[in-house]
Amino acid sequence: MTADRPAAVLVLAAGGGTRMKSAKPKVLHTIGGRTLLGHVLHAARGLAPDHLVVVVRHQRDLVAPHVGELDPAAIVVDQDKIAGTGRATQCGIQALSGDVSGTVLVTYGDVPLQTTQTLASLIATHQAEANAVTVLTAQLANPFGYGRILRDAAGAVGAIVEEKDATAEQRAVQEVNSGIFAFDADFLRAALGRIGTDNAAAEMYLTDVVGIAAQDGRRVGGLQATDRWQTEGVNTRAQLANLGRELNRRELERWMSEGVEVIDPTTTWVDVTVELAGDVTLRPGVQLHGSTRVETSAVIGPDTTLTDVQVGAGASVVRTHGVGAVIGERCSVGPFACLRAGTVLGTDGKIGTFVETKNARIAEGAKVPHLSYVGDATIGAGSNIGAGTIFANYDGVAKHPTSVGRHCKTGSNNTFVAPVEIGDGASTGAGTVVRRDVPPGALAVSTGPQRHIDDWVQRKRPGTPAAQAAAARVSDEEARA
Ligand code: UD1
Ligand code: MG
Repeated sequence: MTADRPAAVLVLAAGGGTRMKSAKPKVLHTIGGRTLLGHVLHAARGLAPDHLVVVVRHQRDLVAPHVGELDPAAIVVDQDKIAGTGRATQCGIQALSGDVSGTVLVTYGDVPLQTTQTLASLIATHQAEANAVTVLTAQLANPFGYGRILRDAAGAVGAIVEEKDATAEQRAVQEVNSGIFAFDADFLRAALGRIGTDNAAAEMYLTDVVGIAAQDGRRVGGLQATDRWQTEGVNTRAQLANLGRELNRRELERWMSEGVEVIDPTTTWVDVTVELAGDVTLRPGVQLHGSTRVETSAVIGPDTTLTDVQVGAGASVVRTHGVGAVIGERCSVGPFACLRAGTVLGTDGKIGTFVETKNARIAEGAKVPHLSYVGDATIGAGSNIGAGTIFANYDGVAKHPTSVGRHCKTGSNNTFVAPVEIGDGASTGAGTVVRRDVPPGALAVSTGPQRHIDDWVQRKRPGTPAAQAAAARVSDEEARA
């Protein structure tokens, strides 16, 4: 261990999370597109500890693989049947070899807004004051549910008492335990051996270690966080939503400081994994998720949700739902477009109103402007697909591809029955059902010649407004003739 770099970080993530009333483990709930545990591991890894340990138990079959995905170098340790944050810490530290000495940081997997910087300043204070334990505290207007920090007359931290075990007087204390501690490793190991389960929850409380240190006359530090949000834990759905909103507000402020225009931060949601260039505009009602990346001068929204979508410079994406798509420079998408996985739209392309695309490569300058489904297709540069076109890719058993060449102009209300190819420069008439390949430069038509049964309405629907309108028109024309 070196100064400011802990020997180990223990992340406690074994609790039941019963107050969430969820089938999913609490620490796998997400805010800002990352799990609670993911946020904590991110902050912890930033300290570059010698060992990063995650303690699991409740639904460990879901939590342990998630840790492996997020941080393969992290050590997953199972907590046994004995409950409580004290026991979790004990299991974690026992999994490390006995010669771990120096500073051990313990943090909880359900406190998602903690940052590396705050953890580092806790460690710096702990080491500068040569404490046995230093707890990060916060002053909360509503401290309900948290452990309260009990200080003596001189202001030194003497103990932490849990809500369930506190007297009315102690509950009035507004300084709370964040669940983030720096410990001297040798002191922690010894003190954990002395804590019991004689409390309202019948659990081993990690917080009892603080009282033990004070009783032994060891130095206990209490660093009050200047940013209370970093110490807030998630125990309920309401707290999850509240912290999610605050995280989002912070992300949007950061993006605005980098030159992104956010017209309405209260209705705009951007995951922590998203990348935005300067001079991007986000209109109201935009949600950007996953690996979405938006290049400069693109305008997104209003009312658009993009997940894992790349948007090129200067593009406009209006009232669109997109997943796994690439939108080129200066493209126009929407309003009311649905871009599904594998959609790639080339520079200056257009996917217009009420258009759904899936696994569709639409080249530079090609346009699908209105009311169409484009699935398993390639469309060449400069082609225009008529309104109301269906790429019929599914025969009930398998999916098949359609290829439209360069500079084609297909008519309105076409159906392309895949597999089929339309050659470069070809055209199709309105209402064509294309079942065979169309040679380059040909015009394909499949509708029969139009024929008329004269005066059918007057004869078959006499007395209707339609028959009267037709009769009036015929007599007008006769009068003019
Ligand atoms: C805990 C603290 C409380 C503090 C609050 C901050 C204790 C006894 N209480 O209360 O002082 O104000 O956090 O948010 O420490 N966990 C385990 N194993 C267990 C129990 C819990 O790993 O047996 C983990 C949980 O997964 C969670 C964390 O420890 O990540 C905290 O557990 P939780 O039950 O939420 O404790 P709180 O009641 O919030
Ligand atoms: Mg908690």
